Amino acid sequence: MSIEVIEVSPRIILPPAGSTVAGEVFRQLLQQAIRVADQANSQAVRMASDFAEVYRREQAVRLEYETKLREMRLLERQSTRYAEDLAEMLRSERERREQLETALESERVANEELRRTGLQGISHLLLAATIKDQTTGAHLLRVRKLVEAIGTRLGLPSQVVEEFGYSSVMHDVGKIHTPDHILQSEHHLSSEEFEVIKQHCIDGEVMLGDARFFETARAIAREHHERWDGRGYPDGKKGDQISLAARIVSVADVFDALTSKRPYKTAWTIEEGMAAVIAGSGAQFDPEVVAIFQSLQADGSIERVRQEVATAQLD
Ligand SMILES: [Fe+2]
Ligand SMILES: [Fe+2]
Repeated sequence: MSIEVIEVSPRIILPPAGSTVAGEVFRQLLQQAIRVADQANSQAVRMASDFAEVYRREQAVRLEYETKLREMRLLERQSTRYAEDLAEMLRSERERREQLETALESERVANEELRRTGLQGISHLLLAATIKDQTTGAHLLRVRKLVEAIGTRLGLPSQVVEEFGYSSVMHDVGKIHTPDHILQSEHHLSSEEFEVIKQHCIDGEVMLGDARFFETARAIAREHHERWDGRGYPDGKKGDQISLAARIVSVADVFDALTSKRPYKTAWTIEEGMAAVIAGSGAQFDPEVVAIFQSLQADGSIERVRQEVATAQLD
């Protein structure tokens, strides 16, 4: 907005001759006064309209500012609420996860308890069933303890060691179908009789059903007469086609059979049994399991197992 300077002219036009001087001066002054008033008026109008324009712009700016402020406040409120919702969601999610973990953990404990109860029950039943035959009962107990000792030294988790141990007790369950005259034969078996003996591995696997619970026991029943070199029975599996559990049971079972008295043979000494196991390393047996077994003999663990079982049988 500009302020215009109104210039009042000092010049007075002299009246023509014959006119009234005073009248003429007045007229001219009046005209000048009217002009000045007109100019002042139009300047005031301009100023007013300039003010109005400035005011309008200021109002617009203020309005815009207030709108923006309102939007920002709304945004702030929304983001606060959003953050609170998010925190709440995270909190309930964490609680839910904790509940789930607790539920899973108690289910795992219950399952584990059930598994152990089942394995222990079956193992004890088997031992009870063979109690009339001290040789077989002691054999199963020694095999179990030897299997656990091997598994532990191999560094297997304790739960797996325990499962291998209890499952090993069922390695010959299939023999329930083998006729007594073949089982108790004191002579060398004929090839027909040997075919019948082989069947106990297959029968054992079938008897243990299809529950996951007996997965290891089934593998042991089926594979405990397989050989590392593939020349065993019933399937001729070789190397690590044979489950680790069965490879361990194979060593423990053969060693214990050799060092026990059977209807057809006297008991071998530990050293003789050990020599046979070492001779079978890489042929009949997994070399790694044989090496572990040797270390168990070296530190007296095998002797300790035999003592423990001998004592238990006397009770
Ligand atoms: Fe067997
Ligand atoms: Fe056996």
